[in-house]
Amino acid sequence: MSTALIILAAGKGTRMNSDLPKVLHRVGGAPMLAHALRAGATLNPERTVVVAGHGADAVRQAVASHDAQAAIVVQKAQLGTAHAVAQAAPALEGFGGDVIVLYGDTPFISAETLKRMQAARLGHDIVVLGFHAADPGGYGRLVMEGDTLRKIVEFKDADAPTRAITFCNSGVIAADAGKLFELIALVGNENASGEYYLTDIVALARARGLTATAIACDEAETLGVNSRADLAAAEVAFQRRARAEALENGVTMLAPETVWFSHDTRIGSDAVIEPYVVFAPRVTVESGAHVRAFSHLEGCHVGRDAIVGPYARLRPGSTLADRARVGNFVEIKNSEIRTGAKINHLSYIGDAEIGVASNIGGGTITCNYDGVMKHETTIGARAFIGSDTMLVAPVRVGEDAMTGSGSVITQDVPDGALALGRAQQVNKPGMARKLFETLRFKKARRDKKREAGKG
Ligand code: UD1
Ligand code: MG
Repeated sequence: MSTALIILAAGKGTRMNSDLPKVLHRVGGAPMLAHALRAGATLNPERTVVVAGHGADAVRQAVASHDAQAAIVVQKAQLGTAHAVAQAAPALEGFGGDVIVLYGDTPFISAETLKRMQAARLGHDIVVLGFHAADPGGYGRLVMEGDTLRKIVEFKDADAPTRAITFCNSGVIAADAGKLFELIALVGNENASGEYYLTDIVALARARGLTATAIACDEAETLGVNSRADLAAAEVAFQRRARAEALENGVTMLAPETVWFSHDTRIGSDAVIEPYVVFAPRVTVESGAHVRAFSHLEGCHVGRDAIVGPYARLRPGSTLADRARVGNFVEIKNSEIRTGAKINHLSYIGDAEIGVASNIGGGTITCNYDGVMKHETTIGARAFIGSDTMLVAPVRVGEDAMTGSGSVITQDVPDGALALGRAQQVNKPGMARKLFETLRFKKARRDKKREAGKG
């Protein structure tokens, strides 16, 4: 059975108080909409249609970067969820399979739950995803009779006994595409909100001899975001899950509650992650690597048995090969650190290639920016860069080469050469003692004057 997804994402999200469309607010570093797309993608949909409205251009861009195949349709006025789904009809022209409707602001629906909905579709024309709400509040109520779903009643339109029902509508619905659009055409807006309710298709279907059911999922999966507080709660839920998964996969974390993951963080087994490490998007860490406390990683790769931090910053485009070491207060950007190379203290390495088993002394800086353009630094294998070397790029230091501490390297260093780029040292015998004497005498005279001034 082929599947199409319709993701509703036109709502404004007034309570977010934001210029950004609600579905583009991020959870685990990815827009909520991307989470919905990813959950849906597990069904291998033949087509995906995102219904955008508020901030449609921004939504279009975000969709393009997460799912290039997805179509976007624009719902100009938000007249209700049935009206929103109807906007997708032209984009599904000629599609004969099942449609699953998801919300762009509900990021946690699991693949397993969507598969269960597909399975339930074998026995029913419409399958609705419900949940048993701890606090049913304003959710639509699912009126069941055995395993038959009789109707869905929106809270605003519900009488007291219906409001007492705690089995609620998540918003996710599965149905045959043709039947879905036929039913939607019959939906009116004579209700408390004056909106076209998608939920009305259940009663309409049953009146036409079709069947409907609801299956339940965990309430945590249906968590929707309507406010910044909800967004923060969604982030907490996401982090809790990501930490649990990492532990499950064999990652050691001493204080998992302090480690922050992104939606796409990948960490191999037997890696050790110390407290207060932040994984921004696009990070992979291989088995056996050790990321020490207070490090921030983004868009980078950490090889096997590499050691990072404490207090390291790995920026996008950085690759650490196996057994590389990046120590405290070191920033690496867009650089390749080859096997066993060490950059252990207080350095900035940008747009560079650091050769196998090289040692970069503390305080070394690649001067990669001339104020207008970025330039590259290449360091050969087994090179030794003395502490506090300024590598003025573009520049190349050869294999087995050395630079003296405090050097400013502006020219390439041949393989095996020692480069010294600093002023010659001059020693003046006895001069320090003389200087000390003069200075102490001056200080005593000054102190005396001040003392006299006070009296
Ligand atoms: C909806 C359901 C309710 C369910 C609840 C779960 C209906 C009528 N009600 O209510 O049964 O318990 O979700 O959260 O379906 N949207 C559009 N275009 C529109 C209207 C909405 O794209 O014209 C999108 C919104 O952006 C949102 C989703 O559809 O992602 C749900 O809309 P919302 O207004 O939040 O519906 P609820 O009143 O919460
Ligand atoms: Mg809602």
